[in-house]
Amino acid sequence: MDGGAAVGKSSTSKGLATRLGLMHVDTGSHYRTLTYALLAAGADAGQPETIPQVLDTLRLSTEIEGRSARLGINGQVPADAEIRSPEVNANVSKFAAVPAVRQKLFDYQRSLAELAREHKYAGLIMEGRDIGSVIFPDAEHRFFLHADEATRSARRAKEGQTDSIAARDKMDSSRKTAPLVCPEGATQIDTGPHTLEEVIDKIATLIEK
Ligand code: CDP
Ligand code: CDP
Repeated sequence: MDGGAAVGKSSTSKGLATRLGLMHVDTGSHYRTLTYALLAAGADAGQPETIPQVLDTLRLSTEIEGRSARLGINGQVPADAEIRSPEVNANVSKFAAVPAVRQKLFDYQRSLAELAREHKYAGLIMEGRDIGSVIFPDAEHRFFLHADEATRSARRAKEGQTDSIAARDKMDSSRKTAPLVCPEGATQIDTGPHTLEEVIDKIATLIEK
């Protein structure tokens, strides 16, 4: 499941995981977690050549929390407040555009399909920006969510978040490596006019068919 900021990826995919018995993975939280760790280590997104050296010091691990598999760094899963801070919001798209950062996550994210099998989930639902285009172009089902900007900004404001979603979307769509795109053949859904329950129901019905 792919789409821009605040289109409803996390709430929809968590709802689908519960309804269909799937393991849920939020890859946005992976980029946020790496950004948090890179900032803590003093890395600078403006100097991408220095980043591989810092990335080598970061060991990836996985913690299962209910239906969600969370990324840990050097044995620790940072708190939600840490990876959703204004500083991470302002830097995550810059680090996510660095090829070495995406390379660090590619094999890890692909390996989570096997983890879902090992843990006997009915399958895996993964959300992000490049899941249907780069990480799992071979996925059984691919969905692309979208909604108009006013709706998305209102959703974030309601959550009390200060986050420039338009600026992030622009950076994510225009970067060279794995830009945010609607993957060819994905089912597009406009979540603006629909409640969360309606969107979950629509997708679950398509999958169950
Ligand atoms: O929750 P929200 O939609 O605001 O963002 P997120 O899903 O937490 O993703 C945060 C950032 O991570 C995005 O703006 C992208 O820069 C990056 N990201 C990415 O590059 N590729 C992904 N598969 C997922 C997220
Ligand atoms: O993960 P992403 O940033 O794409 O969006 P989200 O965090 O799942 O959703 C952002 C906000 O929009 C949440 O407060 C959801 O409850 C709300 N939402 C909505 O009002 N209607 C939908 N169809 C989907 C999400």
